[in-house]
Amino acid sequence: MGHSKSNVVELSKIRWLMNNTCQEWIDLAISNPMEILLDHAHCERKAAGVALQLMFRYVSEPGLSEVLSPLAREELEHFERVLSILNARGKKLQKLASPPYGAILSKNICKDEPLRMLDSFLVAGLIEARSHERMKLLSIHSPDIELRNLYADLLKSEARHFGIYWKLADERFDRNILITRLEELAKVESDALLELHHQPRMHS
Ligand SMILES: [Fe+2]
Ligand SMILES: [Fe+2]
Repeated sequence: MGHSKSNVVELSKIRWLMNNTCQEWIDLAISNPMEILLDHAHCERKAAGVALQLMFRYVSEPGLSEVLSPLAREELEHFERVLSILNARGKKLQKLASPPYGAILSKNICKDEPLRMLDSFLVAGLIEARSHERMKLLSIHSPDIELRNLYADLLKSEARHFGIYWKLADERFDRNILITRLEELAKVESDALLELHHQPRMHS
Protein backbone atom coordinates (compact mmCIF):
# COMPACT_ATOMS: atom_id res chain seq x y z
CA MET A 1 0.00 0.00 0.00
CA GLY A 2 2.95 2.33 0.66
CA HIS A 3 3.56 5.03 -1.90
CA SER A 4 7.13 5.99 -1.36
CA LYS A 5 8.92 8.38 -3.64
CA SER A 6 10.56 5.49 -5.48
CA ASN A 7 7.11 4.11 -6.31
CA VAL A 8 6.12 7.43 -7.79
CA VAL A 9 9.25 7.57 -9.92
CA GLU A 10 8.65 4.01 -11.05
CA LEU A 11 5.04 4.85 -11.89
CA SER A 12 6.13 7.54 -14.33
CA LYS A 13 8.15 4.92 -16.20
CA ILE A 14 5.24 2.52 -16.65
CA ARG A 15 4.62 2.12 -20.32
CA TRP A 16 0.96 1.38 -20.90
CA LEU A 17 0.86 1.50 -24.66
CA MET A 18 2.93 -0.87 -26.77
CA ASN A 19 2.63 1.08 -29.99
CA ASN A 20 1.99 4.61 -31.12
CA THR A 21 -0.97 5.68 -33.19
CA CYS A 22 -0.23 5.73 -36.91
CA GLN A 23 -0.48 8.68 -39.28
CA GLU A 24 -3.47 7.12 -41.12
CA TRP A 25 -5.56 7.40 -37.95
CA ILE A 26 -4.62 11.05 -37.50
CA ASP A 27 -5.52 11.85 -41.11
CA LEU A 28 -8.82 10.01 -40.87
CA ALA A 29 -9.69 11.65 -37.54
CA ILE A 30 -8.99 15.22 -38.61
CA SER A 31 -10.89 14.80 -41.87
CA ASN A 32 -13.98 13.50 -39.98
CA PRO A 33 -14.15 15.85 -36.97
CA MET A 34 -17.89 15.55 -36.31
CA GLU A 35 -17.88 11.76 -36.37
CA ILE A 36 -14.90 11.75 -33.98
CA LEU A 37 -16.68 14.23 -31.74
CA LEU A 38 -19.81 12.09 -31.63
CA ASP A 39 -17.75 8.97 -30.94
CA HIS A 40 -15.86 10.89 -28.29
CA ALA A 41 -19.12 11.81 -26.55
CA HIS A 42 -19.94 8.10 -26.39
CA CYS A 43 -16.43 7.33 -25.06
CA GLU A 44 -16.88 9.77 -22.17
CA ARG A 45 -20.33 8.32 -21.44
CA LYS A 46 -18.90 4.79 -21.47
CA ALA A 47 -15.92 5.78 -19.29
CA ALA A 48 -18.38 7.02 -16.65
CA GLY A 49 -20.31 3.76 -17.06
CA VAL A 50 -17.19 1.63 -16.52
CA ALA A 51 -16.39 3.44 -13.27
CA LEU A 52 -19.99 3.03 -12.06
CA GLN A 53 -20.07 -0.62 -13.08
CA LEU A 54 -16.94 -1.28 -10.99
CA MET A 55 -18.53 0.56 -8.05
CA PHE A 56 -21.59 -1.69 -8.29
CA ARG A 57 -19.60 -4.90 -8.73
CA TYR A 58 -17.16 -4.18 -5.90
CA VAL A 59 -19.54 -2.26 -3.65
CA SER A 60 -17.85 -3.31 -0.40
CA GLU A 61 -14.25 -2.96 -1.62
CA PRO A 62 -12.58 -0.42 0.74
CA GLY A 63 -11.25 2.70 -0.96
CA LEU A 64 -12.78 1.94 -4.37
CA SER A 65 -15.90 4.11 -4.46
CA GLU A 66 -13.92 6.96 -2.95
CA VAL A 67 -11.89 7.28 -6.14
CA LEU A 68 -14.26 5.90 -8.77
CA SER A 69 -17.24 8.10 -7.87
CA PRO A 70 -15.36 11.37 -8.55
CA LEU A 71 -13.88 9.79 -11.67
CA ALA A 72 -17.37 8.89 -12.96
CA ARG A 73 -18.55 12.43 -12.28
CA GLU A 74 -15.60 13.88 -14.11
CA GLU A 75 -16.27 11.66 -17.14
CA LEU A 76 -19.88 12.87 -17.16
CA GLU A 77 -18.64 16.46 -17.10
CA HIS A 78 -16.47 15.62 -20.13
CA PHE A 79 -19.50 14.02 -21.75
CA GLU A 80 -21.58 17.16 -21.18
CA ARG A 81 -18.83 19.36 -22.54
CA VAL A 82 -18.51 17.33 -25.75
CA LEU A 83 -22.30 17.15 -26.04
CA SER A 84 -22.64 20.92 -25.82
CA ILE A 85 -20.12 21.38 -28.63
CA LEU A 86 -22.02 18.82 -30.72
CA ASN A 87 -25.30 20.62 -30.05
CA ALA A 88 -23.78 24.03 -30.79
CA ARG A 89 -22.74 22.62 -34.14
CA GLY A 90 -26.24 21.43 -34.89
CA LYS A 91 -25.69 17.77 -34.13
CA LYS A 92 -27.72 15.66 -31.69
CA LEU A 93 -26.45 12.71 -29.73
CA GLN A 94 -27.24 9.61 -31.72
CA LYS A 95 -26.18 6.01 -31.88
CA LEU A 96 -22.91 5.27 -33.59
CA ALA A 97 -21.60 1.78 -34.27
CA SER A 98 -18.57 1.30 -32.05
CA PRO A 99 -15.47 -0.47 -33.30
CA PRO A 100 -14.78 -3.94 -31.78
CA TYR A 101 -11.89 -2.54 -29.67
CA GLY A 102 -13.79 -2.48 -26.35
CA ALA A 103 -15.26 -5.95 -26.93
CA ILE A 104 -11.83 -7.41 -27.77
CA LEU A 105 -10.41 -6.02 -24.55
CA SER A 106 -13.39 -7.15 -22.42
CA LYS A 107 -13.14 -10.65 -23.84
CA ASN A 108 -9.58 -10.85 -22.48
CA ILE A 109 -10.58 -9.98 -18.92
CA CYS A 110 -10.12 -13.02 -16.65
CA LYS A 111 -13.51 -14.52 -15.65
CA ASP A 112 -12.48 -15.44 -12.10
CA GLU A 113 -11.71 -13.25 -9.12
CA PRO A 114 -9.41 -11.87 -7.93
CA LEU A 115 -7.82 -11.55 -11.37
CA ARG A 116 -11.05 -10.27 -12.86
CA MET A 117 -10.65 -7.18 -10.70
CA LEU A 118 -7.01 -6.71 -11.70
CA ASP A 119 -7.80 -7.10 -15.41
CA SER A 120 -10.76 -4.74 -15.16
CA PHE A 121 -8.55 -2.00 -13.70
CA LEU A 122 -5.85 -2.59 -16.31
CA VAL A 123 -8.23 -2.61 -19.26
CA ALA A 124 -9.89 0.59 -18.03
CA GLY A 125 -6.41 2.12 -17.61
CA LEU A 126 -5.33 1.04 -21.09
CA ILE A 127 -8.40 2.65 -22.66
CA GLU A 128 -7.69 5.85 -20.71
CA ALA A 129 -4.05 5.75 -21.83
CA ARG A 130 -5.04 5.35 -25.50
CA SER A 131 -7.62 8.14 -25.20
CA HIS A 132 -4.95 10.35 -23.72
CA GLU A 133 -2.49 9.56 -26.53
CA ARG A 134 -5.07 10.26 -29.22
CA MET A 135 -6.47 13.42 -27.62
CA LYS A 136 -2.91 14.70 -27.48
CA LEU A 137 -2.56 14.07 -31.23
CA LEU A 138 -5.87 15.83 -31.91
CA SER A 139 -4.86 18.74 -29.69
CA ILE A 140 -1.84 19.21 -31.96
CA HIS A 141 -3.12 18.27 -35.41
CA SER A 142 -6.75 19.34 -35.50
CA PRO A 143 -7.17 22.39 -37.76
CA ASP A 144 -10.13 23.54 -35.63
CA ILE A 145 -9.09 25.74 -32.70
CA GLU A 146 -12.17 24.97 -30.58
CA LEU A 147 -11.47 21.25 -30.91
CA ARG A 148 -7.74 21.67 -30.29
CA ASN A 149 -8.58 23.45 -27.04
CA LEU A 150 -11.17 20.86 -26.06
CA TYR A 151 -8.71 17.99 -26.48
CA ALA A 152 -5.87 19.89 -24.80
CA ASP A 153 -8.10 20.45 -21.73
CA LEU A 154 -9.48 16.94 -21.52
CA LEU A 155 -6.23 15.07 -21.99
CA LYS A 156 -4.89 16.37 -18.66
CA SER A 157 -7.68 14.55 -16.83
CA GLU A 158 -7.26 11.41 -18.90
CA ALA A 159 -3.61 11.19 -17.81
CA ARG A 160 -4.77 11.31 -14.20
CA HIS A 161 -7.35 8.62 -14.89
CA PHE A 162 -4.93 5.92 -15.96
CA GLY A 163 -2.89 6.82 -12.86
CA ILE A 164 -6.02 6.17 -10.74
CA TYR A 165 -6.56 2.74 -12.29
CA TRP A 166 -2.88 1.93 -11.86
CA LYS A 167 -3.07 2.85 -8.18
CA LEU A 168 -6.24 0.81 -7.63
CA ALA A 169 -4.42 -2.21 -9.07
CA ASP A 170 -1.09 -1.55 -7.35
CA GLU A 171 -2.69 -1.23 -3.91
CA ARG A 172 -4.30 -4.66 -4.23
CA PHE A 173 -2.05 -6.88 -6.33
CA ASP A 174 1.51 -8.10 -6.36
CA ARG A 175 3.66 -5.82 -8.47
CA ASN A 176 5.13 -8.67 -10.56
CA ILE A 177 1.73 -10.15 -11.36
CA LEU A 178 0.49 -6.67 -12.21
CA ILE A 179 3.34 -5.90 -14.60
CA THR A 180 3.11 -9.28 -16.34
CA ARG A 181 -0.61 -8.91 -16.84
CA LEU A 182 -0.29 -5.31 -17.99
CA GLU A 183 2.19 -6.40 -20.67
CA GLU A 184 -0.19 -9.13 -21.88
CA LEU A 185 -3.19 -6.83 -22.02
CA ALA A 186 -1.19 -4.00 -23.59
CA LYS A 187 -0.26 -6.43 -26.36
CA VAL A 188 -3.95 -7.28 -26.87
CA GLU A 189 -4.73 -3.54 -26.98
CA SER A 190 -2.07 -2.64 -29.54
CA ASP A 191 -2.80 -5.73 -31.69
CA ALA A 192 -6.51 -4.88 -31.67
CA LEU A 193 -5.76 -1.45 -33.16
CA LEU A 194 -3.41 -2.90 -35.76
CA GLU A 195 -5.98 -5.46 -36.88
CA LEU A 196 -8.98 -3.14 -36.96
CA HIS A 197 -10.18 -1.67 -40.14
CA HIS A 198 -9.64 2.05 -39.77
CA GLN A 199 -12.76 4.05 -39.14
CA PRO A 200 -13.06 7.59 -37.78
CA ARG A 201 -13.39 6.51 -34.15
CA MET A 202 -11.35 7.33 -31.05
CA HIS A 203 -10.41 3.66 -30.70
CA SER A 204 -10.15 2.29 -34.19
FE1 LIG B 1 -12.87 11.72 -19.99
FE1 LIG C 1 -10.99 9.28 -18.54
